Amino acid sequence: MHQKTSIAGEPDHVRAAPSHRNPYPYYARLARQQPFFRDDANGWWVAASATAVAEVLNSANCLTRPLSEPIPEVLRTGAAADIFGRLVRLRDDEVRGRLKDAVAGALASIDLGQIGDRARRRAAELDTELGSACDEAWITQFMFALPVQVIAGLLGIPRERFGDTMTWLGDYGAAAAAAGTGIPAATPELIARGHRGARALLDLVGGLGKDPGRRGPLLDALAREAARVGCDDDRDVVANAIGYMVQGYVGTASLIGLTLLALARRPALREKVDANRALLRPLVQEVARHDTVTSSTFRFMACDAEIAGRPLRKGEMIIVLLAAANRDPALNLDPDRLDIARKDRKSFEFGVGVHACPADKAASLLVEIAVDHLLTKRAPLERLEASLTYTVSGHVRTPLFKG
Ligand code: HEM
Repeated sequence: MHQKTSIAGEPDHVRAAPSHRNPYPYYARLARQQPFFRDDANGWWVAASATAVAEVLNSANCLTRPLSEPIPEVLRTGAAADIFGRLVRLRDDEVRGRLKDAVAGALASIDLGQIGDRARRRAAELDTELGSACDEAWITQFMFALPVQVIAGLLGIPRERFGDTMTWLGDYGAAAAAAGTGIPAATPELIARGHRGARALLDLVGGLGKDPGRRGPLLDALAREAARVGCDDDRDVVANAIGYMVQGYVGTASLIGLTLLALARRPALREKVDANRALLRPLVQEVARHDTVTSSTFRFMACDAEIAGRPLRKGEMIIVLLAAANRDPALNLDPDRLDIARKDRKSFEFGVGVHACPADKAASLLVEIAVDHLLTKRAPLERLEASLTYTVSGHVRTPLFKG
């Protein structure tokens, strides 16, 4: 699902901002004037300044799910719950810390050079598989396919299952987002498709997990690391192996698209980066700060407690605006300027605290390689703006180019 971009006015509220054409004046205003406030009309709190965002993300009183509903009620009856409830991303129980060590340790054990080699090989294969016309729709397909297929390959998923895997991830992801955030609406059809996708993913990755000969290096490493830290429930391993794809899929595709847009809008920068590809690294980091993919994330109060000097009640929800904090002048000087030479860049793009993303380096590398490939291919970046839409999401900023 996607919506045409609009340039008129501010978003109605923070959850309408990720798909707004230019939410940044709004984010900047919040970061500077309303660092932490209650949106009484919608019944949620908003953390917008860098200080407030850091306080929420580092607070042991702020959980990723409400204590009363670790798995959304609407998902509870099917396979999607077996993924949702076991992801390190969405739990704060006593197993989480050890499981996070395993998830992060397994990723860290995979050499970035190996990830890079796989990504370059896969990019070349996609040139053939996706057909020869390199137009806006092709670019969209490529940016979604490349990163998740590299991760799928690292888990051991065979190439002929990549297409199915992407469909199932999309179906599970849409159902999980609908159940967890209400955007899009959790219709019975969407939820049923999500359960079917989840079942298929659990069968596929669970099957690989049982057969050491078919496991890829990342699945192997996760099983090993989980055993090392004493997580002996195979269902946690399978769910979090799927979690690598779930977490990486839309986010990495989105950062590729946002980086392409940054270049498309700045022909002089495009020329400079084209001539010196070493600049891709700081470019990707700066786009992640400046046009943040994870516009926001949620937290829920574990108990009555003070946050940013305000009293919050158990169960209350906080929308944590990473994108606004990234534009806070207290975090970065002249924050509205895209400056790839920025010194001492600070960014919340990959989160902070116990739930911080363990794949920031791998994800950034995949984005660099995708953009490098598209520059070399002379992809028509100048046509992207005219075909730009953003997916409807309360939290993630995903550009689509449809031609
Ligand atoms: C550009 C792409 C990506 C972005 C912007 C991103 C961003 C984030 C952010 C902001 C969080 C923390 C969420 C929160 O605190 O509520 C997170 C968590 C996570 N990410 Fe990423 N991520 C990206 C790619 C990936 C990839 C490729 C993987 C896996 C290979 C991955 C795996 C994870 C995991 C497992 C967590 C949960 C960590 C935890 O809760 O302890 N991410 N990511």
